[in-house]
Amino acid sequence: MKLVFLLLLSLPCLGLGNTQISSIFSFGNSYTDTGNLLALGSMNQTQGPVVSDFPPYGMNFFHEPTGRFCDGRLIIDFIAQAFNLPLLPPYLAHNGSYQNGANFAVSGTTGLDLSFFVERNASNPFFLNTTLDVQLEWFMELKPQLCTSFEDCRIFFRKSLFIVGEFGINDFSVAFMAGKTLAEVRSYVPYLVKTIEKAVEKLIKEGALTIVVSENVPFGCLPSVLSLYPSSNEKDYDPQTGCLIKYNELSLYQNKLLRKAVTWLRWRYPHVRLIIGEYYRPMTEFVKYPKQFGFTETPLQVCCGGGGQYNFNIIQGCGMPGVNACQNPSTYVYWDGPHLTEAAYHYIADGWLRGPYADLPILTAVTDISQSQQMWSNM
Ligand SMILES: *[C@@H]1O[C@H](CO)[C@@H](O)[C@H](O)[C@H]1NC(C)=O
Ligand SMILES: *[C@@H]1O[C@H](CO)[C@@H](O)[C@H](O)[C@H]1NC(C)=O
Ligand SMILES: *[C@@H]1O[C@H](CO)[C@@H](O)[C@H](O)[C@H]1NC(C)=O
Ligand SMILES: *[C@@H]1O[C@H](CO)[C@@H](O)[C@H](O)[C@H]1NC(C)=O
Repeated sequence: MKLVFLLLLSLPCLGLGNTQISSIFSFGNSYTDTGNLLALGSMNQTQGPVVSDFPPYGMNFFHEPTGRFCDGRLIIDFIAQAFNLPLLPPYLAHNGSYQNGANFAVSGTTGLDLSFFVERNASNPFFLNTTLDVQLEWFMELKPQLCTSFEDCRIFFRKSLFIVGEFGINDFSVAFMAGKTLAEVRSYVPYLVKTIEKAVEKLIKEGALTIVVSENVPFGCLPSVLSLYPSSNEKDYDPQTGCLIKYNELSLYQNKLLRKAVTWLRWRYPHVRLIIGEYYRPMTEFVKYPKQFGFTETPLQVCCGGGGQYNFNIIQGCGMPGVNACQNPSTYVYWDGPHLTEAAYHYIADGWLRGPYADLPILTAVTDISQSQQMWSNM
């Protein structure tokens, strides 16, 4: 009895102190970009200034714009802090060590290759060639700086956390902007999930042992989507949330296929800890029960925007001259339209680390080995 009691007491400490994670590698888009799009901007690869380079982006915590599409920290920042690691350096902007990891995520990027969209006549002049497969190439380019021999890499990546995603928001957005129908966009989803599955499998073959695979968000709840694709039919809106049902169904379809893919990968690679990082459930809860999270403002209104029903206006967006943020972003779910506030990201990060928003909470996943070691040493 006494032994069990001691073990339970020691668990929270194991999660944060005696941690096995010494580096984090992240692949994704603006939900996790910590400065890569800005770096491309300064290399003149974007078609103009990037809004996240201007206040009020970064008004909280950093007190200056960092390239994060947020008022403060993102989910990966909270995860890095939970492991006492430095915030992830953006791969395209950093000139220094990557011993504690690297961030390959680029705002605006799709999961699917550009060629996929070009072949379907859905290309876009603002496209950056920074898709998931390109980010994987950057990882392979970086790898020799981290470890050399197979054994060396196995040891290094044993202590690494990999985070793949979110991917999907931009794949959907690009396709809808090109005028594709819902059915066409839906037909892209299996390809997107396959791309994510292949990327995860590639990381496993490189030695990754702990991987968070991110879900897609409820696309029909994004204030940007609600503003750009309004419906005159009240029935198109979920009465409980005010979100657009058909776009949410698209996300649910992606998440269902993603779960199937992860189930298959778990079966194929039982030694790997695969974690589903949920977005759909927390983001729906924020809108259904906002007050439980301290979101006292109308939950589908954005904090930083240029007016309109959802305070989102694409030609007068956050970061542009004359567009101000709300007084207290932590009372809002959404920061600028498609992106969440630091407060909302914080809830999701905690849910990934400790549950309930991950089927295997990250801290449980990374402590299960040390936990069993602890049990033997106590005996
Ligand atoms: C980037 O664009 C700016 C403005 O158009 C120009 O002044 C600058 O020289 C360009 N930089 C590079 C590296 O091309
Ligand atoms: C990176 O840092 C090194 C020294 O730490 C310096 O010599 C080099 O010029 C830097 N490269 C860039 C692109 O800033
Ligand atoms: C591609 O899309 C454009 C604009 O949506 C349209 O005018 C053009 O006919 C399309 N081409 C093909 C080959 O589908
Ligand atoms: C994107 O970059 C990759 C190499 O990183 C290249 O193979 C591919 O052709 C590029 N795609 C486009 C559309 O430029």
